[in-house]
Amino acid sequence: MTASAVSRPPRLLVLSGSARTGSFNRELVELAALKARNLGAETTSVDLRALALPVLDADLLQAQGMPAGALRLRDWMAQHDGVLLSSPEYNALPSPLFINAFDWLSLVQAEGEQPSGTAATAGKPVGLMAASPGALGGIRALPIVRTYLSTNFAMVVVPEQLALPLADQQLHAQRPDLERLAKPELDAVLDRLVASVVRQARWRISA
Ligand SMILES: Cc1cc2nc3c(=O)[nH]c(=O)nc-3n(C[C@H](O)[C@H](O)[C@H](O)COP(=O)(O)O)c2cc1C
Repeated sequence: MTASAVSRPPRLLVLSGSARTGSFNRELVELAALKARNLGAETTSVDLRALALPVLDADLLQAQGMPAGALRLRDWMAQHDGVLLSSPEYNALPSPLFINAFDWLSLVQAEGEQPSGTAATAGKPVGLMAASPGALGGIRALPIVRTYLSTNFAMVVVPEQLALPLADQQLHAQRPDLERLAKPELDAVLDRLVASVVRQARWRISA
């Protein structure tokens, strides 16, 4: 079957690793989501904070079982064909909100028809972004996110990635009508990243 013969639009989960109102990463990933919708994808934006996951604690898992938020994340992953993710960089690492949520996800076991956490992620494309008001844009954390998702979660991390520096100047918070980043060369990278994820998701659902 060719990509054009796919019977339904690819569904992308839109995630930010930020736990901050007014997040630059949320704004960047929503711009990516808009571009994905312009390519025919359906997007679902979710806030990882809504999962209310405690810091990973094996004793708590033993005593209380898997938190509902981890099962919900598994369900979100199972219901989507790919992911758009933008995470802040904290001291050169990905944000604890993102890592903690996915560490919980990695522990979710299959039950009945429901896949395990890593079965729900396996083979699905993900596009990586980071945004920072700093000069490096969070680029030091992106290789870590790439390794984390491609190895333990078997995700297809697309080659294109975007670390957006000076995000406070480059995002058009007050101009959503612009639908683009201020610097055309960075906007072109974002276009390629989104197209790659949408293309991979289409291939996946048509295979
Ligand atoms: C604990 C902490 C560590 C940070 N470390 C970095 C860093 O290593 N590199 C960087 O570019 N910005 C760093 N920042 C600044 C964040 O990029 C900035 O807070 C950004 O707004 C976070 O993204 P958000 O707007 O999506 O929440 C750090 C911020 C905090 C709170």
